Amino acid sequence: MKKIKIFAPATIANVGPGYDILGLALEGVGEHLEMELMVSDEIKIQPIPNYPDLPLGPDENIAGIVAKAMLNNLGLKQGLNIKIEKSVKPGSGLGSSGCTAAATVFALNELLDQPFTKRKLVEFAMLGEKATSGKAHADNVAASLLGGFCIIKSYHPLEVLNIPFPKDLRLVVAHPQIEVKTADSKKILKKEMALPDVITQMGNIAALISGLTTSNYEWIRSGMNDLIAEPIRSYLIPGFAQAKSLAMENGALGCSISGSGPSIFAFCANEDQAKEIGDAWKQFYADLEIDSNIYLSKINPRGTYKVVSE
Ligand code: HSE
Repeated sequence: MKKIKIFAPATIANVGPGYDILGLALEGVGEHLEMELMVSDEIKIQPIPNYPDLPLGPDENIAGIVAKAMLNNLGLKQGLNIKIEKSVKPGSGLGSSGCTAAATVFALNELLDQPFTKRKLVEFAMLGEKATSGKAHADNVAASLLGGFCIIKSYHPLEVLNIPFPKDLRLVVAHPQIEVKTADSKKILKKEMALPDVITQMGNIAALISGLTTSNYEWIRSGMNDLIAEPIRSYLIPGFAQAKSLAMENGALGCSISGSGPSIFAFCANEDQAKEIGDAWKQFYADLEIDSNIYLSKINPRGTYKVVSE
């Protein structure tokens, strides 16, 4: 039967002040997923190497949930065999569940000869986010599927914009090995914001987007401040304030929490600077006796793609 292997990149959501509306795709880190059409109508998810605790039932596993939603939409009963290889831990803040959802919808769409547009696939992938975090945010799955920088301009109806960004922009990401569940870190955010703060936040996001689209690093730097998620979620991340200061003292263009954390990231003007900050963060977390993974990355313009098909 037809078979395909897919790579879906990890992502940074809530970029700076862009809570729920700005995501970007990373390079080199993400998830491989293999999918095969089966003669039976059973959806089978194989045990996931290194993650024995992840559920495998088609109604619990994200791959099963989003694949079933697509098949139901088409009125199809189709058996699938799915193998997932994760390189991003769930609860890392790097869009682990979003990778699974993006890889699954992309794979199934290819095997069914593309009944859906990539943008429609984002809507199916969002159902996986809803199942994991209680809310169907799109900033991880849109960036993973479409690549680059994605603005979620509207949720109802879903409108996603890909914006230009400086080709030389580099990222350094630190993933301290502690777990923060998106569902928990969503609950602690304030539900309302005072108008003066809304105005500041709008100014920041406008500066950041203008800086990204015109390659103006000063505007990127001035727009990276967030008043919605960072001030509250940073309490869940040991050493966040010091790690951010380290990055900024080393010349970063901005530093914030990746998704709902605990990963953090910084924008850098070049690779040497990203490496210096990465080394400083590794040592910083080691001093706190917390293991960490450091990733150096460009922005990945490609999004989810086919690795092999048979
Ligand atoms: N925008 C989402 C949130 C991203 O902050 O809840 C989660 O990775």
